[in-house]
Amino acid sequence: MSPAAGGELLRAAIFHTPGDPFTLAPGDPKAFACHEDGGLLIRDGRVAACGDYAAVRRAHPDVDEGRDWRGGFILPGFVDAHVHFPQFRIIGGLGHTLLDWLQQVALPEEARMGEVAYAADTARRFVRALAAHGTTTALVFGAHFAAATAELFEAAHAAGLRVISGLVMSDRALPSALHQTPEQAYRDSAELIGRFHRRGRLAYAVTPRFAFSTTEAMLDVCGQLLREHPDVGLQTHINEDRAENAEIARLFPWASDYLAIYERYGLSGPRAVMAHNVHATASELERLAAAGTAVAHCPGSNAALGSGMFPLKRHLQAGVTCALGTDVGGGVGLGMLKEGLQAYLMQRLAPEPEPLDAARLLYLTTRAGARALRLDDEIGDFTVGKAADVVHLRPPADSVLDAAVRRAESPDRLLAALFTMAGSESVREVRVAGDVVYGPEPS
Ligand code: GUN
Ligand code: ZN
Repeated sequence: MSPAAGGELLRAAIFHTPGDPFTLAPGDPKAFACHEDGGLLIRDGRVAACGDYAAVRRAHPDVDEGRDWRGGFILPGFVDAHVHFPQFRIIGGLGHTLLDWLQQVALPEEARMGEVAYAADTARRFVRALAAHGTTTALVFGAHFAAATAELFEAAHAAGLRVISGLVMSDRALPSALHQTPEQAYRDSAELIGRFHRRGRLAYAVTPRFAFSTTEAMLDVCGQLLREHPDVGLQTHINEDRAENAEIARLFPWASDYLAIYERYGLSGPRAVMAHNVHATASELERLAAAGTAVAHCPGSNAALGSGMFPLKRHLQAGVTCALGTDVGGGVGLGMLKEGLQAYLMQRLAPEPEPLDAARLLYLTTRAGARALRLDDEIGDFTVGKAADVVHLRPPADSVLDAAVRRAESPDRLLAALFTMAGSESVREVRVAGDVVYGPEPS
């Protein structure tokens, strides 16, 4: 039987989190599944079997030898729950707080996305870099320009990544080149939804930048788009920075808190992912949990912009779904392993710490993102039947990380070493639904 018919068997150490290590007892195999000599059988782009190599082999004698990646590691594809493609070239603008960084660093670059060729080049580099870091799914802020946002969708489609994105909507407080009228934003968004939503691996999310840069007329248009397109998502920012929150209170004097603004226009709910939420009140956490709105925690960005310490423990206690985002370019890079490390470091210093072990970091960078994006039936771990979104990691020979993983005395030590030190130099191959999207052999 040909490998295509029988499937393809990948052999390496396999790690994944088929359950939630924040709620399952430590040691529960669902919380952290590890197969030191593992076999992952892919058939028709889906996981057909995952377990110890010898057992998978015995159960599927029809399958050819497949790929021998022993010495390497297989993880589910990473999910970045918050990232901005037009900010790809401005990572590293250190020394600012949010509003000052937007004005001086981010927005001048975002204005350049009005030039379609520049936007297209940025989009291609951005999606290539996502894949090179092992990110297979991302919720991406598009540009303030419809043509530039279309270029991002086209680049993601060509590369085979799962990208959910949308036109960024703003009608005040930014450089005027970045403003649209609510009517134009409505027309452009509706047109992009028609072109790209559910085309292959793409999906659309209505994207008001934040309440600071959107009038109530614009927020109303966002609500209208969600009502007219019941399965598109919503992404925005909330409660990121104290100076931002002071401005929000001034602009929306009727609102009891930040979330109340989005609630009034029907933007909070199970399709929504709101980034940051560093300065959340107890009432906001309760209402986010009740609505099923997810929060994208972006620890690298929160530290780089000095936005504050994310109260992860309070979010989890309230029952808010949390995922991780790199928030490039406020964040410090596209690597989700590094973002996991940033989350860990922040919790080490947090006044109310939530301890993050390697299993929890793996969950946060994979399944939690899938859950936040309502894709957890499809991706996030290697449960049989899910799409085979796969990262093959192998540290460069003789690197410090290579020495650490060879010396590691347990799977969780080994995984912790990967989170501590692995970057794109350790990513060897990346698959989405079994298709190679990054690696030595193009699909
Ligand atoms: N709030 C509004 N726009 C942005 C942005 O581009 N980055 C971050 N971190 N916060 C924002
Ligand atoms: Zn952001």
